[in-house]
Formats: sequence, structure tokens, C-alpha cells
Amino acid sequence: MLTSKRILLVIAGGIAAYKSLDLIRRLRERGASVTPVLTKAAEEFVTPLSVSALAGAKVYRDLFDLTDEAEMGHIELSRSADLILVVPATADLMARMATGRADDLASTLLLATDTPVMVVPAMNVRMWTHPATQRNLATLKGDGIAVVGPVEGSMACGEFGPGRMSEVPEILAAVEDFFAEGPLKGRRILVTSGPTHEPIDPVRYIANRSSGAQGTAIAAALAALGAEVVFVTGPADVPSPAGVQVVKVQSAREMLEAVQAALPVEAAVFAAAVADWRVASASGSKIKKQPGGALPVLEFAENPDILATVSQMGPGRPPLVVGFAAETDDVVVNATAKRARKGCDWIVANDVRPETGIMGGSENAVILITDQGAEDWPRMTKEAVATRLAARIAETLETE
Ligand code: CTP
Repeated sequence: MLTSKRILLVIAGGIAAYKSLDLIRRLRERGASVTPVLTKAAEEFVTPLSVSALAGAKVYRDLFDLTDEAEMGHIELSRSADLILVVPATADLMARMATGRADDLASTLLLATDTPVMVVPAMNVRMWTHPATQRNLATLKGDGIAVVGPVEGSMACGEFGPGRMSEVPEILAAVEDFFAEGPLKGRRILVTSGPTHEPIDPVRYIANRSSGAQGTAIAAALAALGAEVVFVTGPADVPSPAGVQVVKVQSAREMLEAVQAALPVEAAVFAAAVADWRVASASGSKIKKQPGGALPVLEFAENPDILATVSQMGPGRPPLVVGFAAETDDVVVNATAKRARKGCDWIVANDVRPETGIMGGSENAVILITDQGAEDWPRMTKEAVATRLAARIAETLETE
């Protein structure tokens, strides 16, 4: 809920501006009040009348509107909010924010404020990937501005790629996380999830049966407690949760790189089913059938062990490292040995014999192994396991 939260919503001029209309309704349903500000360009995409009607509030449009100044100065307007939300944030507005311009009402408000700002970019893929936009993005992040999205997808302009604005539920989740007062507020936590795909050639790969359900549930549970979650995921079956920073990877080596780039974090949960081996030299072109019937022989190389690498990294090691152990025999003995071998703090062990139905299923029965010994948890849904694990992580980080 966002009861009595005051949101100043800056709508800039982009095709995604129409989504801000639905966003206004959803924010108000949750109890927030919305004060809308439109840029000149935004008025080409949404009308001030519909924005005002949905917000149930006056729309601010012009810096030099004297009535507004008499009612409420622009400085006061920007400071009377709990959060300034920019939806959509266009390449142009981001550039103006990054350079501290104040040439219209929106940019002036953004410059004159000490209220937290969250931007939700939306633009053409080339504009998003352009070094100038990426430079501006880095500047804004460095200034402490929260950024939601963009995501990859097809765009109104007909192109495909990153730049598409996050959907309303994701924006809402980010806003709710911002206001969340959970025990993990302000804690940055990494979660790996899903399988990895190890290429054989450009069209074939080696994978495993992980659905990503447990890792996804853990990321969602941590975010629900207020954590800032970096979610590094292989190609999973289930969609990534809302309200987390998603980093998509394919192979184990890409996952290691993404994990290292996400550090430092205060806790790291390695729920991914990382392939132990990759094809030593994946072919750059499709392997063809041989006329004589000779069969291809795959040679394997060992993948980096991401959990062990992070557990044993010395300076910069997250204070709490949690690994998983998928075992088919002697679960406690094997998982206890795995904890010692990899050097992590906790191991969440589970029995993945096919008859348990755990791998790819909706339930899990885990044994939590810590330096205090083994703790048997009853069989429950993967969401319940995640909630319990997240609570345990919160408890542990609090006492540190
Ligand atoms: N893991 C990892 N990187 C790898 C392999 C595994 O980070 N290359 C992590 C998994 O995310 C999990 C833990 O290590 O948290 C244990 O995974 P598991 O498959 O049970 O163990 P293995 O290391 O593969 O050991 P074994 O095959 O001997 O059971």
C-alpha cells in the first residue's frame, strides 16, 4: 500500500506516455496522491484533461504560470512530494537532468528538489544504447537517482531491443519497494537463478531441468522485505519477479561475470543450477552431419564454480553467502561436505531424486545447513521456502 504517499509524476513526451494514465489509477488505488506535471512534448501524447481527471488533481504545465506561482511555487511543488517519478523518462529529459538544465517546468522541478527521484526510461533502442544516453544514465545513477527498466521488447517504432518502458506492475513494485519499510531496506542482495545454457554450436546447447522457480521466489521474498535485489538469471521457464534488477545471462561464464559486476552485496544466494561443464570449444558454425556417418565427439571443460569463487574471494566477500545443494543420495552428509568445500556460510540442501518431484515442481523439502548443524524444514511450496529463507537472512543481517 502507498497510503498517503505524495507522488509528483512528471510525464515526458514519448509514445509510452499513455501507460502513465494507467499508472496514475493504480497509484491512487493504493492510496497515493498524484500531482501530475506534463512537459510540452507530453501534451502531444496525452491530454492534460485526461491526466487531470485520472489524478483528481490540477496538472502543472508551465514554469511561468503565475497563478501556479501564487498557489504554489515550483520549489515548493517539488519539495512537497515524497517521491518524484518520471514516466516515461525520454532520452532528452534524461540528458537535461544529467546536465542540470532548467529550461522548462519539469527540468526545473527536478533540479530544485531534494526529494528522491525515480526515472522510468523509454526510448528507441539506438537512442538507449547510444554512448551519450549511457553516459547520462551513469551520471543520473551516480547522483542517486533510481532507474526502473527499460526492458527488452518490440517497440512502437517497429524495432526490437532494450529501450521499451517497464510495464505498470513493475513500476508499481519499484515504487512500493521504495516506500517499503521492511527489515532488509537499504540492503543489497544478489540472487542467482535458473539453468545455464552451454553452447555446442550456434543452434545447439546443453541445459538442465531447472525452472528457476525457487530462485525467482527467493528474489521476490527478499524484495518484499525491502531489499535491493540484483537477480542474475539464466534462461528460466518462469518470468523474473517485479521490483528487482534483472540481469539475463546464458552460460556459466556469463553468470560469473554478471555476479562479479553486481558486487559488493551484503548477502548472496546462489540458487542457480549452473552447468558444471561446458563444451571445450563450441563451434562457431553449425556442426553438420558427416556423410560417412562419423559422429561428433564433444569434449568438455569445467565451468568456473561461481559459489566457490565468491565464497573464497577474500576482501569484498559478501558477509553472508548461501549456496544450494541438489543431491540424490546422503543429502545431509553430501551437503555438509559441499558447504565446507565451497566455503559458503549456509547450504540449502534438497533431495532431487525424480520421485520427489522437486526439480521443476512447485514444492520443496529442504535442509538448511549452517555452522550450527542441519535443520530439517517440512515440505512446503517454493514460495514458502523463499519467505522463510528471506526472513532468516533478514534476522542474520540485523544482528551483524
Ligand atoms: N554452483 C555455482 N557454480 C557452478 C556450480 C554450482 O555457483 N559452476 C552453485 C550452485 O548455484 C549451488 C551450489 O553451487 O548453489 C551447488 O550446486 P550443486 O550442483 O549441488 O553442486 P556441484 O558443485 O555441482 O557439486 P556436485 O556435482 O558434486 O554435486
